Amino acid sequence: MLDTAIEAARAAGQIIVEKYRQPIAVHTKGFRDLVTEVDIAAQQAIVDLIAARFPSHAILAEEDPGKLDDEREYTWVVDPLDGTTNYAFRLPIFSVSIGLAHRGEPVLGVVYDPMRDHLFCAQAGQGAFLNGTPLRVAEREELIGTLVAFDWARDPRIREAVLRILNHVAPQVGTVRALGSAALGPCYVAAGWLDAYFHARLSPWDAAAGAVIVREAGGQATDFAGQPWSLTSPRFLAASSALHPGMLALIREVLTQS
Ligand code: IPD
Ligand code: CA
Ligand code: CA
Repeated sequence: MLDTAIEAARAAGQIIVEKYRQPIAVHTKGFRDLVTEVDIAAQQAIVDLIAARFPSHAILAEEDPGKLDDEREYTWVVDPLDGTTNYAFRLPIFSVSIGLAHRGEPVLGVVYDPMRDHLFCAQAGQGAFLNGTPLRVAEREELIGTLVAFDWARDPRIREAVLRILNHVAPQVGTVRALGSAALGPCYVAAGWLDAYFHARLSPWDAAAGAVIVREAGGQATDFAGQPWSLTSPRFLAASSALHPGMLALIREVLTQS
C-alpha cells in the first residue's frame, strides 16, 4: 500500500509540475475556494491507480468527496493538490497528500512536494522519512525560540478566531508563517523545520497523511482539546512533543475567552 501511495503521489506530482508553466483553467468552486483542471487530472491519476490495485477499498478524495464510509476496512483519503491557491498564483508551495485509514484510524501517509522532489512518508509504528532519510522533530523547548506556521480558514468567523490566536501566539514565539499547504505543515514539523503548525478548520484530506508523518517523527497531532486528531476533527495542531503542551495552552487560552 505504501508503494502504491508513493507511485500515485509521484504520478500526480508529474502532472502538477508539467502544467505549472502552462496556462491552466482556474474556476471558483466556493467562497475563497479555487479548483483548477490540474486538481482534477491529478486526482484522476491517483484514484485510477488505487482503485485498480485495491478495488475493495473506499476512496475519499477532495474533488469528488462523498461521505466517509465506516463499513470498509480501508479508506484512502486523498488531496490531489493541496495549496491550489498557491498553485493558481504560481507560488511554488503545494503538495500531493495521500493518507490511508484503517477502520477510521490514519495509519499511512505520503505527502509529495513535486517542485522540490520532497517525498515525506510514514506508516504507523515504522517511522517517518523524507526521501528515505528518517525524520525527527526538533528538540527546542523555549517558545520564544520557535518557528510556528499556520494556515487560514475561508470562513470569516473562523478567520477572526485565527487572528485572535495569532494575536496571542505571535508575541510569545520566535516568528509565524502562513504556508498555504496544510499537508506540508505537519511534514515540516516532522522534519524539525517548524516547531508547530495549526489550522482552525481543515478537511480530512488536508491532514490524514501529515498526522501520521508527524506522529511517526516523534511529534503530536491533536485537535484543540488535546485529543488525537482524527478524520472528523476540523481543528488541527501538529507540534514537537516538547512544544505541544505550550502551543495547545496558548490556543486554548484564546478559545476559552471567546
Ligand atoms: C487548502 C490549503 C490551505 C488551507 C485551506 C485548505 P486546497 O487546501 O491547505 O493552506 O488554508 O484550508 O483547504 O483547497 O488548496 O487543497
Ligand atoms: Ca487541501
Ligand atoms: Ca486540494
